[in-house]
Parts: sequence; structure tokens; C-alpha cells
Amino acid sequence: MPKKKNFLQFNMSSIKHVAIIMDGNGRWAQKRLRPRVWGHIRGSSIISSIVEAADDEGLSALTLYAFSTENWSRPIAEVSTLFNLLKKFLLKERTRLIKNNVSFKVIGDIANLPVETQKLISETEEITKENKGLKLTFAFSYGGRSEIVKSVNEFIKNNPSKELTEKDLTSHLYNPETGDVDLLIRTGGDQRISNFLLWQMAYAELYFTPTRWPDFSAKEFKQILNNVTQRERRFGNISSESDLSSSADKAEVNKHAFARGLKGQNV
Ligand code: FPP
Repeated sequence: MPKKKNFLQFNMSSIKHVAIIMDGNGRWAQKRLRPRVWGHIRGSSIISSIVEAADDEGLSALTLYAFSTENWSRPIAEVSTLFNLLKKFLLKERTRLIKNNVSFKVIGDIANLPVETQKLISETEEITKENKGLKLTFAFSYGGRSEIVKSVNEFIKNNPSKELTEKDLTSHLYNPETGDVDLLIRTGGDQRISNFLLWQMAYAELYFTPTRWPDFSAKEFKQILNNVTQRERRFGNISSESDLSSSADKAEVNKHAFARGLKGQNV
């Protein structure tokens, strides 16, 4: 595996959590007069090179959209191909994930997946949970709105008389450890977020590439990271901020100062 970026380079980047909508598999296959599932098969074969690139770039988290709640509407043969690809990925890559200190998790409602696949997912999550390297998450049978509803319901159940805060909602998401998304990449040319990580993407940078997922590469991934790292992220302030909480803290101080009549004394 290539050497990780050094500490200084890593510190310069505010991109820690990248989420990817791996779109364009079906069109990629159809253009080659192949069935759509051929695109998913080719698409799944490039995933490990992108995971490796994410690790190499020193990211803390990579979340991949592999199957949405809306994708259940697709022909059953396509749906079961995607389930099989998930199973095959885990069987093939598990040892490598462990060796590379990657912690693995699936987010979504996986109760309707084949029992064998559910078992494989929980085993992989269990054996990689102490790993301190890249957090690799597959969103599978996942929807952003239903994740928010799940979180709110869980909170209400445990705290029937408490008022919900943003922090509470975040802590009841499927995978609070990965934090906010810094960058969303969507391949395949469309410019939508398709019900993906809606809460976590509040201040994400967005990058849309026409490249269809099976043609995506570690080289393009690294180029995108380089490009986005040059953007100034202000999180609502007028100059660069390290993250949303830093800007939010300053906003709170100003808001209270303003309320006390100290108008114009910006911190
Ligand atoms: C969208 O392309 C892609 C998906 C719905 C599935 C993405 C899944 C993979 C890349 C492979 C899954 C692998 C594992 C290991 C879980 P599309 O089919 O909507 O493409 P189109 O827009 O060209 O029709």
C-alpha cells in the first residue's frame, strides 16, 4: 500500500469524510450492449481501489451508497445481484479490511436482506469494530429521510419528556462516529443527492463528475480531493473556518453579545 500523506499535508485539508453516490452502472453496461447488472458487477470490482485511495489520502471516513430504499423498486434480478455483490465483497475483502485497520459498517434497514448476508455483515462489523483506521461504511437499503425519522423516534422513546437537540438527533443516527460529510462525489453525470445522508450533508462540498462509476478510478478520486481542498470552506462566516462547529461557536458568542446590546463588537 502506498505511503500515507504526511501530517502537514493532512492537516491542510478540511476533507475528512467523503461520501460517494456510485451512479452510472446501468448506462455503462447498456452502452456496451450488456445487461445492466454487468455494470454493477464491474462497478463493485473498483470499490477496493477507491477504499485504498481514501486510506492513502488520510481520510477518516468513506461512505458509499450501494443500495437505496428506493432501489427496492428495481427488477428483482437486479436487486438480488446487488445483494450478492455485497456478500461477495465481504467474503473477498474481509481479510484485507482487517489487515489495513479499516472498520466496516453498513447503514440502512437490512432486515429484509437474506439472513446469511445479514450475518456476514454483523460478523464483519464485529471483527473490525476496534480498528482505528479508515471508517468504511456501505449505505445499503438506506434512505436519508428514514434515518432522520428513526433517530427522532429512538430519542423520543428514550426521552419522552425532553426536547430534542441537534446533538441528540446526530447521536441517534446509524453511524454518528463518521461525523458530517465534508465532500459528496456523484459519478454518472446527474446532479442530485438522492436521499443520501441528508442530515450529515448540511455543509458538504458537492462534486459531480460525468464519469460513470465503472470507469471511475483512484486517479480521478485523488484529483477531485485535490481540487476540492483548494476551495475555501466558510461555513457561513466570511473567511475560512475549520469546520461547522467552529463557525457555530462564534455565531453563538456574537448572538449573545448582540442580545446584550454589544452590536458591532464582532469576535
Ligand atoms: C446506481 O447506478 C448504482 C446502484 C444503484 C448500485 C451501486 C452498486 C455498486 C457500484 C455495486 C455494489 C457493490 C457492493 C459491494 C455492494 P444505476 O444502476 O442507477 O446506473 P444508471 O443511472 O446508469 O441506470
